[in-house]
Amino acid sequence: MQSKTQYTWWFCDDLPTDPRIDKGLILVTGATGYIGGRLVPELLARNYRVRVMVRSFSPDYASRWPGAEIVQGDALDVEQLNTALKGVDTAYYLIHSLLLGYKKFEKTDIQVAINFRIAAENQKIKGIIYLSGLGKRNTQLSPHLENRAIVGENLSQGPIPVTILRAGMIIGSGSASYEILSNLVRNTPIFFIPGWAKTKSQPIALRDVIKYLVGVLELDEARGKEFDIGGKTILTYDKKLRDLAKLLGKKRIFLPAVITTHAVYGYLASLLTPVPGPITKVLVRGCRNEAICHNNEIRELIKFEPLSFEEALIAALLREEKDQVTSRWSDSFPYAHELSVKLTELNPVPKYNTSYCLLSFKEPASLFKSFCSIGGKVGWFQSNWMWRLRGMIDRLLLGVGSSRGRRSYSELRVDDVIDFFRVENIKKDKLLLLRAEMKIPGKAWLEFIIDSYEGLNKLSVTAYFQPSGIMGKLYWYFFLPFHFYLFKALIKQIEKRS
Ligand SMILES: NC(=O)c1ccc[n+]([C@@H]2O[C@H](COP(=O)([O-])OP(=O)(O)OC[C@H]3O[C@@H](n4cnc5c(N)ncnc54)[C@H](OP(=O)(O)O)[C@@H]3O)[C@@H](O)[C@H]2O)c1
Repeated sequence: MQSKTQYTWWFCDDLPTDPRIDKGLILVTGATGYIGGRLVPELLARNYRVRVMVRSFSPDYASRWPGAEIVQGDALDVEQLNTALKGVDTAYYLIHSLLLGYKKFEKTDIQVAINFRIAAENQKIKGIIYLSGLGKRNTQLSPHLENRAIVGENLSQGPIPVTILRAGMIIGSGSASYEILSNLVRNTPIFFIPGWAKTKSQPIALRDVIKYLVGVLELDEARGKEFDIGGKTILTYDKKLRDLAKLLGKKRIFLPAVITTHAVYGYLASLLTPVPGPITKVLVRGCRNEAICHNNEIRELIKFEPLSFEEALIAALLREEKDQVTSRWSDSFPYAHELSVKLTELNPVPKYNTSYCLLSFKEPASLFKSFCSIGGKVGWFQSNWMWRLRGMIDRLLLGVGSSRGRRSYSELRVDDVIDFFRVENIKKDKLLLLRAEMKIPGKAWLEFIIDSYEGLNKLSVTAYFQPSGIMGKLYWYFFLPFHFYLFKALIKQIEKRS
């Protein structure tokens, strides 16, 4: 069971339904994603037997989800799904491939849903719970919302009851929508408002989404039904920006826009916020669809007062301020999933590598803490403008850039992002291995290691690079002098700040 003292509160504590231990084994797919990352601890705290399906295994998961069974599986493979679904009573379907970008995610998500239904039927599970998008069918839905609806239809084509919850914008610490809104309002003095920003939507607080997801598991009447879920407030996108600006005490100017193309706004949002292009473009395009609840039956079945837009914002802001963001949109792997190739899986180790080290009498714990605090608002300790410039170039190329920041400043775990890196391995007081996710002609890693010899510690920073073709080799040699300068300065700063 998850320790109740691990977090300051639990979303489902005031849920009117009771835990249903008779439910048996519950599978959560998409657990490494934003919603799944919040759902699993809640289920464990309610004493459910939980199996978590992940694509890429990490030993870190055992401590992240104590008591949960972890299985490795890619939903593009029916056999792996068969294994994951064996003995399962109910499965949460939270798989989504948005980070693949427009061209790829639609086909992939539909194939995955078909595979999942086949495997669920093979294993004769009792139910599926799917979190979908909110938008009125038979209107011109954006490709993303249309895809979410088609996924629901594909899941529901067999005999297994599928409970579908349709949510619009989800506001919570770490949600893509919240981070887009808050970064836009913090960083942009003037807003040019296009006509489609007057479309109405009904955002919902993350905690209310989690309550509904758990509530429908615990209520037999909800089984196999479809529900719209939303918060207390219906408002336009324009009003959301204004309300948030007021809440943050920011004076902002709002003018009517001449250019109204979604693609332009999607691209600008990716440049001005930590959220990359594949997500901002899809979300902005969805803004033309009214996203309000038409079927409010769930309010009668699972009775609690959902938060208003403002209350949801305050809850998210507070969590951010207390550094208690437990999952984030960036947790899921990016568009090129082959990036999850681990350094240790490469044999031999890339021959393109360069190391910088220094000796220190400082404690390993303090050196470790120092390099683990790198990135995000704190920056890269020295020559920050060079790191930022590299990040901006990556953003212009529609890469992840350096503005993704960090989920938490007090904690680092495997798969957390740090600007354009992702944590691949972390060993307390010893090692931090980061995998680069920017657009580069090859694969790159940055490793920080502490080796201790009788009170003296050797701190090393090593850059590894596996080039792709001639461009990769040119890239490596072009950046070598910059690496020399940057890493030498970085290592000195790590030691100084420890
Ligand atoms: N977040 C929102 O604001 C929001 C709003 C409304 C509705 N929803 C709905 O909520 C659901 C979950 O969204 P989310 O925001 O949590 O998504 P997310 O953060 O992008 O996570 C997606 C998850 O799917 C997993 N996945 C992708 N392809 C897979 C595959 N082939 N096999 C196994 N796992 C795979 C990812 O695993 P990896 O880590 O391995 O990539 C990740 O865990 C979606 O249906 C979405 O439409 C979300």
